[in-house]
Amino acid sequence: MTKSYILSLVILFATAATSFGQEKDVSDKVEKLLSKMSLKEKVGQMTQVTLDVIGEGENRYSSFEPFNLDRELVRKAVSEYKVGSFLNTANNRALTRQKWYEVINEIQDINKAENELYIPIIYGVDQIHGATYTAGATMFPQQIAQAASRNPELVEKGAAITAYETRASGISWNFSPVLDLGMDPRFSRMWESFGEDPYLTSVLGVAMINGYEGKDNNIGNPEHLASTLKHFLGYHAVTSGKDRTPSYIPEDALREYHLPPFKAAIEAGAHTIMVNSGIINGVPVHANYDLLTNLLKEELGFEGLVVTDWADIENLHRRDRVASSDREAIKMAINAGVDMSMVPYEYERFFDNLVDLVKDGEVKEERINDAVRRILKVKFALNLFETPVTHYKNYPKFGSEEFEQAAYDMAAESITLLKNKEEVLPLDKNSKVLVTGPNANSMRTLNGAWTYSWQGEKTEEFATQYNTILEAVQNEIGKDKVAYFPGVNYVMDGNYYEDEKDQFKEAIAAAQEVDYILLCVGENSYTEKPGDLNDLYLSDNQTELAKELAATGKPVILILNEGRPRIISKFEQNVNGIIQTYLPGNYGGDALADILFGDVNPSGKLPYNYPRYPNALIPYIHKPSEEQTAAEGVYNYEADYNPQFSFGDGLSYTHFEVKDLELDKTSINKTGKINIKVQITNKGKRKGKEVIEVYTSDLYATGITPDVKRLRMFTKLELNPGETKTVSFTIKAEDLAYFNKNREPIIEPGEFELMIKDLKQTFKIVE
Ligand code: BGC
Repeated sequence: MTKSYILSLVILFATAATSFGQEKDVSDKVEKLLSKMSLKEKVGQMTQVTLDVIGEGENRYSSFEPFNLDRELVRKAVSEYKVGSFLNTANNRALTRQKWYEVINEIQDINKAENELYIPIIYGVDQIHGATYTAGATMFPQQIAQAASRNPELVEKGAAITAYETRASGISWNFSPVLDLGMDPRFSRMWESFGEDPYLTSVLGVAMINGYEGKDNNIGNPEHLASTLKHFLGYHAVTSGKDRTPSYIPEDALREYHLPPFKAAIEAGAHTIMVNSGIINGVPVHANYDLLTNLLKEELGFEGLVVTDWADIENLHRRDRVASSDREAIKMAINAGVDMSMVPYEYERFFDNLVDLVKDGEVKEERINDAVRRILKVKFALNLFETPVTHYKNYPKFGSEEFEQAAYDMAAESITLLKNKEEVLPLDKNSKVLVTGPNANSMRTLNGAWTYSWQGEKTEEFATQYNTILEAVQNEIGKDKVAYFPGVNYVMDGNYYEDEKDQFKEAIAAAQEVDYILLCVGENSYTEKPGDLNDLYLSDNQTELAKELAATGKPVILILNEGRPRIISKFEQNVNGIIQTYLPGNYGGDALADILFGDVNPSGKLPYNYPRYPNALIPYIHKPSEEQTAAEGVYNYEADYNPQFSFGDGLSYTHFEVKDLELDKTSINKTGKINIKVQITNKGKRKGKEVIEVYTSDLYATGITPDVKRLRMFTKLELNPGETKTVSFTIKAEDLAYFNKNREPIIEPGEFELMIKDLKQTFKIVE
């Protein structure tokens, strides 16, 4: 045994002992406190209320501007009702970090003064791509774009910055990351996910948690915070494509696809989890004992706190009608395993009913104790008893250039080049260009929702200092070379994606005078119900604009700025270049301009299949019958698997050659592993980054038809012109397991194919 090995063992044991010691310490404190608490104090801990409820205003649903706490309302909540948690901003508007400090500090002070048994409140907010609700914070690309970067280090760094800036706002609990699979382009929250793949989502989810909580999950560190895995489980897989509508997910599919990211995140030590607001197989998830207690708390061993989504206990009665009264709904949810109710308005009703239910024996006090233990554990772990609110003055790096650079880097690595006919890109900086389209001059569309406001509608008010695509292009090549006419613009009220013509003819006329057309299309910002969609095609006005611009004969570069892939097949063949920016955040315009004019070589890869038709929404993870060809089928029909672009697509300005795929074994048993090697060479003239993805196919499986292929591993690397690197991976037989109908993971003997780019090798698993 070498000295360094012994030393690392000692360190390992010491770290394990310390974390065990810390855990024991926390659980002692929790038990001591719990033993002193009255039933009301316990139920209060389980109650979460939104900020408007305690603000000065005419009612509990909105507040006067500028926002101020109503001390009497705060007192009532924390003293009479012992409320233990608050969330959200007020009036759906970001606050400065100074204001956040004042607000949270005042709540904590009143809470302390009013309660003999002092328990600090925990404040939670959705800071999902940067500190969403803090003015001046660093806004990163949304998760869907971060997934395209295929860069876990950048994801972790971004989350660490978000944690820092959230703590700089006095807030210690973040309702992020989203670990749902973005597998349905119709869904209004696809962009909040890391895309359609469970493995990619697992890797990036864990990276995000490491950034928020620290790799050691020491959330007592004032630069870390408690993360929230959401929305447990299967939230995006709705049959209708509309938010909060029923899903039908068989148990094996739930485990095979939806569960792994949550499992990985729980193993990574995440402290809290939020429940899916929807309904699976007819049962609202908030009332599902099997999912919340049997699966989550028992089988997965999740020891953290389970919070509902917005108003979802009420929804059991008022929306889903599985409970005939609010009281019944509360009983169902708490007995199913919910620890904290995001009420968020009528908290008295929740509180009174739950106290009653316990008194009547319909909810056992043990269940309440379990819930409160979980909540107190997080409060102790966050060090809230010592520091109930962190002070913005201790966070000098808030909004710093270093942080801005990280957001820019993420945008630059995520933007994805999908088409580059005759190498039209990058453009010469002496070119004259027309910038047009409804997304050309909007900070709102670059950021998407959850930006300074829920639907992102207040973005322009807060983001004036950042560059839209138009401004970034002007900065890049000079205003004199840039013409701008929107052609089409979003209608600001009514439906979130309505648009109308705006200087349409002028845009077409201006196209005649330039060398290139930069056509910026996509969607306005939206999330949740307001983002429900009836037609996945890009809007008629935008499609018409694209066709007419292309008809001028000038080369069109189509710039997509959208939360989900809007279908472009009616004119895709008429454009010369296509760049997907997703929702790249406040530095997205700058990063895009750098890519357009060659300062940055693009390296993003699609995190989903981009559909060609509305009736062909087939993800890359699909079954062989989606792809059968005429020769194979008995009925001689052809299945049309033909996405516009595929998961993993993304071009570069250089050319990479991948060759010499080698497997050190071609046969392994169920505990075996294979070492894989492949050579990659940059054959072009520019430095560039490339992603190597390893896919496998199980050629035959018992009981359940296998997926055509699945992503198993990936890495991203940078190569200079002419440079060659060897990339190595190790794949284990257990990585290839699938869930059968008995909910068991099966490693099945048989033949497999392993693919890296166009290279293929087969191997076997034997008994
Ligand atoms: C959303 C959650 C969010 C919560 C709190 C809900 O409507 O579904 O994702 O965390 O509101 O803002």
